[in-house]
Amino acid sequence: MGNRTLAIIKPDGVKKDLIGQIITKITGAGFKIKALKMVKLTKDSAGGFYEVHKERPFFNDLIEYMTSGPCVPIALEKDNAVADFRKLIGATDPAQAEDGTIRKLYAASKAENVIHGSDSDENAALEISHFFPRKELLENYNS
Ligand code: RTP
Ligand code: MG
Repeated sequence: MGNRTLAIIKPDGVKKDLIGQIITKITGAGFKIKALKMVKLTKDSAGGFYEVHKERPFFNDLIEYMTSGPCVPIALEKDNAVADFRKLIGATDPAQAEDGTIRKLYAASKAENVIHGSDSDENAALEISHFFPRKELLENYNS
C-alpha cells in the first residue's frame, strides 16, 4: 500500500475559485501537501499525462478542457493515499458520486469534474514526476 498520490485541481475548479475550498477538503481528510503549483498545461503535456485515454472518443475534448486555463497539481501523502483520495473525490460522473465528495459538491459534468486523482500507486509515482522534478520533491519530503 503506497502513501502518495497526485491530485490536480482542473481548470474549471480554478476558474470557479474553488482552490481554497478544495484544498480545505483535502487537508481536512488527513492528506499532507508535499508539493503544489499552478501551471497552464500545453497540449503535449496534457496529452502525455492522459496518454492512456488517447484512443477514447472524449480524448480531444479532454485535452481542450485540460489546456483551457491554469490547473493546480498537488503531490499528497497519507497512508493508503490512492484509494482514500479516490474516495474523497467521488465517481468520475458527479451524478454518480457519493454525497460529500468533491465531485458531488463542485463538479458540473462527467467531462468537467474539477479534480483528478491517481488510480494506482504506479501511476501516482509517474504522475508526481510528470509535474515535480525529483530534486524539488525530495527537498520537500525531507523537510
Ligand atoms: P481522472 O483520471 O481525471 O482522475 O478521472 P477518472 O479516473 O475518474 O476518470 P478517467 O476514466 O480516467 O477519465 C479521465 C477524465 O476524462 C474526462 N472524461 N470525459 N465525456 C466523457 O465521457 C468523459 N469520460 C471521462 C473526465 O475529465 C475524466 O476525469
Ligand atoms: Mg483516471
